Amino acid sequence: MTPEDAKKARIDPWASTQYEDYNRLMEQFGIEPFSLDGLPNPPKLFRRGVVFGQRGFSYIKSAILEKKPFAILTALMPSGKMHIGHKAVMDQCLYYQSLGADIFIGVADIESFATRGVSFEKAKEVALEEYILTYIALGLEPERCQIYFQSKRTPVKDIAFTFARKLNWSTMKAIYGFGDSTNMSHAIAPLIQVGDIIHPQLPQYGGPRPVLVPVGVDQDPHIRLSRDVANAHRLYSVTKTKDGRVGVFIKVDENVEKLLEKAQMIVSGLGFLKLEKIPKYKALYVNDADFGDIQKLDEALAPVEVEFGGTGLFPPASSYHRFLTGLTGAKMSSSDPPSAIFMTDTPEDAKKKVKRAKTGGGVTVEEHKANGGNPDECVVYELFTFHLLEDDSELDGIYSRCRAGEQMCGSCKALAAERVEKMLVGIQAKREAAREVLDQYVVYD
Ligand code: TRP
Ligand code: SF4
Repeated sequence: MTPEDAKKARIDPWASTQYEDYNRLMEQFGIEPFSLDGLPNPPKLFRRGVVFGQRGFSYIKSAILEKKPFAILTALMPSGKMHIGHKAVMDQCLYYQSLGADIFIGVADIESFATRGVSFEKAKEVALEEYILTYIALGLEPERCQIYFQSKRTPVKDIAFTFARKLNWSTMKAIYGFGDSTNMSHAIAPLIQVGDIIHPQLPQYGGPRPVLVPVGVDQDPHIRLSRDVANAHRLYSVTKTKDGRVGVFIKVDENVEKLLEKAQMIVSGLGFLKLEKIPKYKALYVNDADFGDIQKLDEALAPVEVEFGGTGLFPPASSYHRFLTGLTGAKMSSSDPPSAIFMTDTPEDAKKKVKRAKTGGGVTVEEHKANGGNPDECVVYELFTFHLLEDDSELDGIYSRCRAGEQMCGSCKALAAERVEKMLVGIQAKREAAREVLDQYVVYD
C-alpha cells in the first residue's frame, strides 16, 4: 500500500474532509446497509436513505420489537454554533425516544478542549445556548433523558482509563494514524469517547442493554474502537465454530465451570436441547442452534456476566447518516456562516441564505426548461429531503417536475425559505421556554 492509499483507507475524525462516496466507505470498512424492515413508522430521514448504514443495529431492532430496554447515546461538540445539519441526530433521538429509548447526550467538552482548545467554561456556555436549548425546543422529553458533561462524569473518565488496559498503541496507530507528534490529549480523547459510548451500560446508568450511537461516518473509527474494546471485556463469546456449529466460549480463566453451568441453564431456558459441554475447551456447544440464533444467545448471556464480575456489555451499535451539503455547495460548517443555516439565525437571514443557495438548476431559465434540472446536485432539494418536506409524494413531485424542466428554482427556493422561516420561528419561540426547564435535563454530576 502506498502512503496515499493508506491515507485513503483511514477515516480521520478530526479532518474537515467531506465524505461523499458512502458506498465505497461501507465496503471498505464493513458498514452494513440500514434496513427499515420492522421499524415502526420510520421518519423521513430513514425512509429517504439519509440514514444509510449501521453496525450491530439488529440488537436495537430486537429491543424495539420486543419492547425491551435500549438506549441512545450521542454527544455534541461545544465548539461552534448548531446548524440545521446537526438537527438530523436530534430527529433520530426523538424518534427513538418515542419508541421508549433512554437518551444520553454528552457534552464533549474534554474532546473540544483536547482537539480545539475550548475552555470548559466556554464549552458549557456554548453547549447550553447553542445546542441544548434547541434540543429541548425540538421536543426532547426530560423523562428517561440525561444531558451530561464529559469532564464532570467520573465513570466516563474511569472507563477511558480502565478500558485502556486492553488497548495498545499499535491499534491506536492503525485506527487513527497517530504518530510521534500526536499530542497526548488528542490520543486520550477517543478513549473518553469510548467512555461515553459504554457508560450507559454500567449498573448505575441502567446496566447492560443495547446502546445505539447515531453518527456521521467520520466517527466510525471511534465506533470500531468502542466495539473492539467492549468485546474484549466480555466473559462469554457466542460464535460460529470452525465445524459450522454454534458455540458459547468462556474467554477468561476464572470461574470457567460456573460460567459454563450458568450458560447451560440460560441456553436451555431458551429452549435449546442439544447442548454439549466441554470444560477442557471452555465451551458449550449448542448443537440445535443455527447462526441466526447467535444474537439471541448473546443477548441472554451478556447480562449474566455482571454476577461474575464481568461487564456484560452489549456490542455498541451505530447508525450512519449522510451529511447535509452546505448551502454554498461546500461542506456545511459552523466556521463558514454562508454555508449553514444556524438554529439561532434570524428567520430573515436564513431566508436570504436559502435564496442564495446553490441549486442543480440550468444556467438560464430557457436551458432549465429545455433540459430540466438536477435535483441530485441541488442543495435546496436536499433541504427538502432532510428537513423541510414531510410528504414523500410532494418530494417526489418536485423531483420529477425538476427533471422535466417544469419546476423552477425560484419557486423551490420560495417554498424552502418559507419552510425554514416557519421552522426557525417555531424553534426560537420554544427555546425561551426551554430555559426554564433546563434543570430537568442537564445533570452536572
Ligand atoms: N467526536 C464527536 C464529534 O466530533 C463528539 C462525540 C464525543 C461523540 N463523544 C461521542 C459522538 C460519543 C458520538 C458518541 O462530533
Ligand atoms: Fe433544485 Fe428545485 Fe431547481 Fe430542481 S427546480 S434544481 S429541485 S431548486
